[in-house]
Amino acid sequence: MSSIEQTLSIIKPDAVERSLVDNIKDIFTKNNLKIKESKKIHISKDEASEFYKVHQSKPFYNDLCAYLSSGPIVVMILEGESAVITNRKLMGATNPKDAEENTIRKLYGISIDKNSVHGSDSIENAKKEIEFFFKN
Ligand code: CDP
Ligand code: MG
Repeated sequence: MSSIEQTLSIIKPDAVERSLVDNIKDIFTKNNLKIKESKKIHISKDEASEFYKVHQSKPFYNDLCAYLSSGPIVVMILEGESAVITNRKLMGATNPKDAEENTIRKLYGISIDKNSVHGSDSIENAKKEIEFFFKN
């Protein structure tokens, strides 16, 4: 059964800063994920804290929110067959050191915090995250 889904992707400050936006977008489109919406924005630390509030009890939460708001990011709605899991596979493991060859994080990630991309981890969270950035 075909299941066309949407998911949220973010190109994080480390990758925007290194001009990797087009390279990363190419990986999505070559793997059958359409970029339905895309915008470059610079969010505040409060907005980042709201976006990542699921991680509020984690030791890395404060640094994570400071980091996501430290420079421009590109937020996108990706659409395609099993888009949530397809995007997660293309991203690779959270820590670039553990990511498989040719994944975005293996190719471009610098460290566990500067790992170049965010992707929704479930259909439910994808809906919430798309709403957060695109349905104001
Ligand atoms: O992004 P992903 O869903 O793969 O990982 P997560 O567990 O949801 O964590 C969110 C983000 O927090 C990661 O992408 C990392 O940038 C950051 N993080 C960190 O800085 N240190 C950790 N030990 C774990 C995550
Ligand atoms: Mg996550």
